[in-house]
Amino acid sequence: MRTTIFVAVSALAAVGSCLPGADKHEFCAPGPKDARSPCPMLNSLANHGYLPRNGKNVSIDQIVNGIDEALNLSPLSSRPVAEFAATTSTTGNPSTMHLSDLATHGVIEHDGSLSRNDIFFGDNKKFNKKIYDTVAKFFTKDVISIQTAANARRSRLVAAQAANPAFNFTAREDQFSQFETALYLAVYGKGTEGNAKTKWVNIMFREERIPYKEGFKRPTDVITNEDIVELADKVKAAA
Ligand code: HEM
Repeated sequence: MRTTIFVAVSALAAVGSCLPGADKHEFCAPGPKDARSPCPMLNSLANHGYLPRNGKNVSIDQIVNGIDEALNLSPLSSRPVAEFAATTSTTGNPSTMHLSDLATHGVIEHDGSLSRNDIFFGDNKKFNKKIYDTVAKFFTKDVISIQTAANARRSRLVAAQAANPAFNFTAREDQFSQFETALYLAVYGKGTEGNAKTKWVNIMFREERIPYKEGFKRPTDVITNEDIVELADKVKAAA
């Protein structure tokens, strides 16, 4: 009886975490005690062990190195953002953060997200299928062009503004949001031309998983900060 209970408890504890013997970067869904953020990519990196899988006490260096290792995105691009993100830290150590700290509204987190609800409605952190479905309906082709990404972003902003009486979107937040679209176009697309693979983008948002099984490989050429800025400018121009 005792053994049965022990086995049952161990099995429950294993739900959402890696089973013994899992590869270092195998995907494992988070467990109920793991911290996650409003960023689908940081969550994906934690789910693959590029960041601490529990999402807690994550250092600026771990974020920069994890992004480099998994995505070949230049530290010159990620470090300033990681440092800014650390201003939300509740860990007691200014160079670490829990991923959940990043949901602090008005630092990086903003209204009108593609896959999260606005803080006004309570949960600005967890993936919201209903909202993302309204965005993903723009992704009707195999690849997402810059124009399509800009249209989806614009439509989501219009809908959020109509639904939320406390909607707020500063010029800086607009810029962050353009960068977020630029980031998924850069990581899952080709250079600065957009055309991100729809399947891969959907997997990032819906499953918070890196689509290795679907053919994604770490880009061989570094994604530079200039690439991201160029893409963000193109997203803005297309809006
Ligand atoms: C220093 C690294 C990073 C930090 C601190 C960070 C943080 C954040 C935060 C706080 C948000 C929420 C913004 C909102 O309210 O929508 C966000 C959104 C987002 N991030 Fe990251 N992020 C980082 C790197 C990346 C990378 C490398 C990607 C690559 C694809 C990425 C893709 C996205 C996307 C697509 C969103 C928009 C989510 C949505 O609108 O629902 N992020 N990020």
